[in-house]
Formats: sequence, structure tokens, C-alpha cells
Amino acid sequence: MDGHDLVRSVRMLTADRVIGAARMFGTAQGLRSVRSAWRRHRADAVGLPHGGAEMARVPGPAYGADPQPGGGVVHFARSSLRVRVAAGGAVFCGWDGAGPEPSYALAGPCPEADRRAVLEPDTGGGWRVVSERVMVAVSRHGAVEVRTPGGVVLRRELPPRWWDRVAQEPAVRRPLASRWVQRSEVPADARFFGLGGRADGPRLRAGSYRLWNTDPGGAFVPGDDPLSITMPVQLVVADAGTHLVFHDNSWDGRVRLREGAEGAGSGHDRPGRCELRMDGGPLRYWILVGAPARVLQGWTALTGAPALPPRWALGHQHARWGFGSEAEVRRVVAGYRERGLPLSAVHLDIDHYDGHRVFTVDRAAFPALPALARELRAQGVRLVSIVDPGVKAEPGSAVYDSGAAAGAFVRDARGREVRGLVWPGEAVFPDFTDARVRKWWGGLYAERLAQGFSGVWHDMNEPVSFAAFGEATLPRSARHALEGRGGDHREAHNIYGLAMARAGYEGLCQLRPQERPFLFSRSGWAGLQRYGGTWSGDVATGWPGLRASLSLVLGLGLCGVPYSGPDVGGFSGVPSAELYLRWFQLAAYLPLFRTHSALYAGRREPWEYGPEVLEHARAALLERERLLPYFVTLAHLARLTGAPYVRPVWWEEPRDRALRDCGDAFLLGDALLVAPVLEEGVRQRTVRLPRGRWYDTATGHAYDGPGQVRLATPLSRIAVLARAGAVLPVTGAQGRMELETWAPAAGRTGSAVVVPDAGDGWQRPVVERFVSRWAQGRVVVERTEEGQAAREAGYPVRVRGTGRESRPD
Ligand code: NOJ
Repeated sequence: MDGHDLVRSVRMLTADRVIGAARMFGTAQGLRSVRSAWRRHRADAVGLPHGGAEMARVPGPAYGADPQPGGGVVHFARSSLRVRVAAGGAVFCGWDGAGPEPSYALAGPCPEADRRAVLEPDTGGGWRVVSERVMVAVSRHGAVEVRTPGGVVLRRELPPRWWDRVAQEPAVRRPLASRWVQRSEVPADARFFGLGGRADGPRLRAGSYRLWNTDPGGAFVPGDDPLSITMPVQLVVADAGTHLVFHDNSWDGRVRLREGAEGAGSGHDRPGRCELRMDGGPLRYWILVGAPARVLQGWTALTGAPALPPRWALGHQHARWGFGSEAEVRRVVAGYRERGLPLSAVHLDIDHYDGHRVFTVDRAAFPALPALARELRAQGVRLVSIVDPGVKAEPGSAVYDSGAAAGAFVRDARGREVRGLVWPGEAVFPDFTDARVRKWWGGLYAERLAQGFSGVWHDMNEPVSFAAFGEATLPRSARHALEGRGGDHREAHNIYGLAMARAGYEGLCQLRPQERPFLFSRSGWAGLQRYGGTWSGDVATGWPGLRASLSLVLGLGLCGVPYSGPDVGGFSGVPSAELYLRWFQLAAYLPLFRTHSALYAGRREPWEYGPEVLEHARAALLERERLLPYFVTLAHLARLTGAPYVRPVWWEEPRDRALRDCGDAFLLGDALLVAPVLEEGVRQRTVRLPRGRWYDTATGHAYDGPGQVRLATPLSRIAVLARAGAVLPVTGAQGRMELETWAPAAGRTGSAVVVPDAGDGWQRPVVERFVSRWAQGRVVVERTEEGQAAREAGYPVRVRGTGRESRPD
């Protein structure tokens, strides 16, 4: 930010934010946020490189190429481009000598090159690399086309442009901090998805999307951008094919999208456009091409399999900022029990800390947490703890002292600890980009385990430092280890939450090796799924917030993070009974099913909204409980294949344009299509069906897609359809697993994969396969194994959908 921007933002924001902060935390905190903002500004004024002319650069003409395993390097007058196809089919492109490593996104060492892919001359004086699934053609001037093996263009990148800061030290010829822009075109019919968690998705329409993880400050609605998880990951779906492109660069940036338009037969299509501008860092990216399921499989092969939540984390969870005491926690848990409502976890927020200090307990309000944890556990309820990265800057307190002794906290350019402002007051921030610091921090979770917590909830890790003006985060000049390479917050900011998740996950694995960690994190970046999931953050109470909840889950799933969910009821306010119920009904079908609210935002217990809501919420809870084995299977499948539990309705038919534009319904695995109610007063809604037969699970009516149907959505339920032939594992009598199958259409069969729960440890899952078919007028389900004759299912089977039928419009 230059001087003018600063003055502008001080004028615009100081009054609002200081008054806001003062209202929420008192005048002293409001004033502290002014001081913190000034401190941040001063740190950057001193610590960031300034001045120096910028010189624009384009690659210039190509003059040669060197083949290498999996591709090769094309040399241009003023740059070079490396193209390398990796085993598994992902293609790496790196300009200016950039290689795939080091990378915070990759799960391990860069995959081997696919030696079958070779660099060869292309028409027009360019080069191309042909592989099994994709062809990359590089023009003489540095344009890059990504084509299907059949030659259809999926993406055309224009030659990039850099602005190199002319180095003040003459020895440095090409500083990493060059800004750059890359413009691309996609087919006119293409739709964009991804970019992390966006409130306005899942289809990303024309607009500008920032790549800088940001706490939206208490309540967000569609239109607010960016949020806590941004990722330079785009999934582009077009008739010609689906591709994912990931720019492995964690700097601040902006993506401008414009959807294309078809010329209605005139032959004058306007392509879709994407412009990516980055403030620095390498221009390198990965491309994956194929059907959506294949692309996600390749993506998670590259960036890591999603962590498997323990079974209990797939049940209903209740959080609240401000339980305030053990007695209140007991009251809430008893409320669930007495009403026969399933509950699997209670989350304690920062109010259970001593003065908001992380890894402490307020002993007056929570005098015997381990005993409370044991008591709840005996009732099947776990405790989950919030963990914030900001450590109160307080010599004499154990966490601060041990961190300071270990040199764990982020420092400024002059070597002094960076002080920010968070809930406990003045705070310092661990540098999670340092392996030593991650180890130290991971060890601190021993205290949480000793208090009886079963899982952790990482918050405020964008990271947030309250500020009356400017950005509410650390100074950009703050120094980070970046695994020994050294750098500053411009590069480390977006991966701060990811690196914190790694610290927590690895710490928990070490401390409690026999159990899988349960961790979810507000902020993160590409690869977060390796350590856990996320949640919506502070989604605003209101119907727009409800819609944003679904966008976030769908968008994140397409970026490889399959486990997430919203604050049921919204974080910020008091929902109407109807809004609360509709949120509850949606979340019952999302991976993380958790009610939560702000300190000042009222209660979220299902019985607080009147008897009618209680009954319908009970139905949603019981259905979730019944579907738990299905959720367990989906969690395993996400781990094994990268496919998110919650998928857009076009998942299997990306060429169906009507489905591609549908963002108000989703597939839950292969078997279910869920159409929530996202508007007030709606008692029936239109549902767009993919191909095949679908049953309304409430009425048993069958509909044949593709097409649209209108389904009743009385207050008691949202619309849930089951695919004909589906076999779902569900909880049956006495809590045992059963199979529920929906009759295949005449002459058709169905199939399913089921992965039974094998406990909370690290046991290898057993994948069971089933088929459903008609036999002598009955529907049967059989277990199949390769090379063996089909045999009995081995579980009780319940057949549904053998009744009436009707047709869609
Ligand atoms: C912000 C989080 O998004 C919210 O869920 C939490 O309740 C507050 N911080 C307080 O810890």
C-alpha cells in the first residue's frame, strides 16, 4: 500500500472499524487496533523493498529446445519454459527456470516424469509434448495450448508478461519478486469453478477474485471476497473436456474471469477469459485433463489424499462461542439426550481459555475439564477444542516463554518479534514455515489431549491481527523461515494456515499415534486436505448466507478439500425458525454437520425454535444418523479417489450444460441427489435431474432424467432423491449396518462400493462391492469380488422404489 492508499484507507476505515472493535471488545481494544495497524504500516515502510524501476518483459521469440524426460525446455529470447508430463498424467509448466519444488501444495517429492511423453517440433515453428491424455503445444512466441489427445483446444495461454524490478543490488539479475500476468482463453461454453472457498460459487461468474486469505470480519455474504481459503486452483468444465489448472504460487494475486458467449451459429464465439495477476513468485503451474473424477483423482494424487475423519466427526456436532461454563455444556448435552437427539461432539470456543490464551483453561468456569470430557465420552459425546495461532505476548506465561526460548515467533525485518492484536490482546505468531517451530507447536497439543479433547478446530489463522485500518494480518515484511529458504509474509501469508494444520496434525499423530487426528481449519491452501477439513467461517445469518454455505462446500470439494460445512443458523445473528431449520436440513447432508454461533448471536439448540422446528430437526438428525455408514464410505472414497462427498450435479455429465449451471442442488456420493431449500417460504422446488431414474426418497415416486421435476419441500423436509440401482449402507436395527437399495430401472443393474467403518485408528479399509439387479420379479443385492461368482450380500437388505412412477417435464 502506498502513502495515498494508506491515507484513503485510514479515512474510510478507521472510524468504522474502531467503533466496531470498541463496540465488541471495549474502547481499549478499539484503540489498540489503531496502534496495531500503525505498527504494521511502519514495519512495512521500513521492511519492504522500495523503489527501483520496473521493466516489462515477454518471452520473445523461441530459438531452440532441449528434450528432457517427460518433455523438455523451450528457450526464448528472454525466458524459458519447461514442460514435463508426470507419471499419472499431470503436466507441469514452469517459466523462467521454475521447477515443481519446493512446494507447499505437493504431498511429496514431485512425481517421476512420464518417459513416453516427448518434446517434438510442431507446425509453425513451435514445439509440442504429446502424452496419453493431453497435448501441450508451445508457439514460437510463448503461447501455450492445452489440447485433448484428439487436438481439441481446452485452454490457450497467451505469452506471459513480467515486470521485473530492476535490482538495487547489481548481483541480483532476476529477483523473485517480479510481478507477472498470464491471460488465458477457454472455450465459449466453459464454466469456471474452484479458487478455494468462494461465497459466490460454485460457478464463478465474471468478476475479480483475490488470492489472499482474509478473515471477512464477523459476517460474510455472497459478494464478499476473498474469504479464509483462497487457492489458485481452477476447474474449467466445457463441452470439449474438463481441466484443472493450479498455479503453484502463494503470493497475493487476482484472478479475473469472464465467461464466454457462443455466437448462436454465426461462428463468432467469444471465448471465456481468465487473467491471473500475481505480485511475485514463480510462474509455474500444473494442468490435469480428463473427466472430473479423474481430474480430482490426479489432483489429490499430487497434493495428498484427504485425511480420514474419525466416524464420530461425521455425526452431529454442536458448537458455541460463549458456553461460558461446564454447567452450560452439561445443560446442552442433556438437552440433546433428553429429547433423544443424536449428538457426537461439543466444541469449546475461546471463552473456555484463561483470558483467551491458547493452550490454557479458565479454571473458574471449567474447573475439571478432563472429568467433564470423560463424563461426556461415556455418553458418546466428544469434546473438540478451538486452537488459535496468536500467543499472548506475555513473558512469564508458559507458551510464550517456551516459544520465545525456541525462537518460534515471526520476526520483522529488523529481527524483532512481530506483535499483533488478537483475542488475548497483544500477541505473537509462531512461524509454522519452520520445521522446528511446527514440532514445538505440535507438542503443545499434549495439553489439549490431557484436558480430554478429541479433536481440534484451528481458527484465526489467515492469520488475523486486528487492525483499525489496512489489512488485518501480519506485516508483509514479516520474516518467515520458508523451510530454510527465507522469505517474507508476502509469500508465507497464504500458506500460514496450511502449515499450522501440518504442525497440529503431525503433533497429534505423534502424541496419540493409535488414533487418527480430527482437525479442521478456517484458513488453508492447496493441500489442506492432507491434514483435515475446514468450515465456512463466519457466514452471515440470513438466506444469502445459507446459499453461500453450499457454494463453499461445493467449491472446496472441487479444490480437493472434501470435508467442510457451515455454521448452522449462520454465525452472526438470530435466524428465524424457518431459516434455522432449512440450514439444519441442508447441513444434515454435508460432511461437517455443526451448529455454531457468535457470542452475541443467540442459541442454536434445535429446541430453541419451537416444537415444530424441533420435530423436523429431529427427523434430519435421525436421518443423518441412519446415513452415517454412507458418510463413512464417502469419507473413505474421498481418501481413496479424491472424489468429494458433495459433488456438483454435473459430476458425471459435465457436458450437460443445464446441469453445469445448476448450483442449488448437489450429489452426495453416487447415490443421492440433495435439493435443499435456500429461500424463505418455499414449499416446493424445481430439481434438475441428471440422466437415469431417480426416486424421491420421501414419496417413492420415480422420475426419469434428464429433465426438471417439481418436488414438494414442506417444512418437514428438503428434497432428496436416490439413484435407481443405488446401494447405500445405512444404520439398521440395533445399530447394525444394512444395505438399502433402490430398484434399478427395468433391464438395468446398479452397483456400489461400501467401506465399513474399521475404527478410529489406521486400519486399512476393506472395500466391498455390490450389485443390484432384478431377478424373477425381485430386486436382489449381491456381493461381487473380482474373479469370483457373486454371492449373498452378507448384510440385511432393504429394497425400496418398487412402487409408482411419474415422468419429469
Ligand atoms: C472466529 C471464528 O470464525 C468463529 O467460529 C469463532 O467463534 C470466533 N472466531 C471466536 O473464536
